[in-house]
Amino acid sequence: MVAKLLDGKQIAKDYRQGLKDQVEVLKSKGYTPKLSVILVGNDGASQSYVRSKKKAAEKIGMISEIVHLSEDTSEEDVLSELERLNNDDSVSGILVQVPLPKQVSEQKVLEAINPEKDVDGFHPSNIGKLYIDEQTFVPCTPLGIMEILKHADIDIEGKNAVVIGRSHIVGQPVSKLLLQQNATVTILHSRSKDMASFIKEADIVVSAVGKPELVTKDMVKEGAVIIDVGNTPDENGKLKGDVAFDEVKEVASAITPVPGGVGPLTITMVLNNTLLAEKMRRGIE
Ligand code: GUN
Repeated sequence: MVAKLLDGKQIAKDYRQGLKDQVEVLKSKGYTPKLSVILVGNDGASQSYVRSKKKAAEKIGMISEIVHLSEDTSEEDVLSELERLNNDDSVSGILVQVPLPKQVSEQKVLEAINPEKDVDGFHPSNIGKLYIDEQTFVPCTPLGIMEILKHADIDIEGKNAVVIGRSHIVGQPVSKLLLQQNATVTILHSRSKDMASFIKEADIVVSAVGKPELVTKDMVKEGAVIIDVGNTPDENGKLKGDVAFDEVKEVASAITPVPGGVGPLTITMVLNNTLLAEKMRRGIE
């Protein structure tokens, strides 16, 4: 078997066209969605992510700004910047890029975002809503993964899904979304024993740990669907997934590449959630 390539770039392109059309409709009603991104410090990867988000927002007709604060900004100053954006009626969605410098508590900052502008879905009240199956902002990478599975017509109900990694950004929320669609979900993490035996039983594998070549051909069941969230730069700056792509594609039925798999969908879902935030606060739909 040679796996079908799950082309995140193409799926994202089509999805963004749909968002662009919806932005136009909102604009004709006098509302322009605006995404504000707070970036603290000079981490190269974070700078590149936030620039991509801004560019993507502008490309579909939204307004976007990056509030770039220096590495030594105090927690108090980050919180007051956040308060300003919370109260700014022109701002639909707010995102604080993580990680934050050590003097700034991530928990305090994420809790200070107005939950109605929390397009990352990181605020505790939005996380809580997700866990009791209420409609809410859902974190963008998990949402993007579900869109890839939906687009590829992959049956989830009753399937064994193994999620590798238990982060609050990806592993745990994507597990919840798979559970909502009636998969039998196993979460593997750094203390799990005999990971390979669980992966071997999986119909769907989502790997989100940031360890290149963690998932190899011998671990994967014939016909499994593989979603690779890893994006670790190698010594030449080339992004590497968690999955040994060239060998695993020989046994999987479908697989995401890195780059060009999950990444483009994450950004797309930031835009999706910004549009949703604008619609919700204007009482549209
Ligand atoms: N850092 C890595 N991924 C993310 C994300 O999805 N959102 C934010 N805000 N920061 C991140």
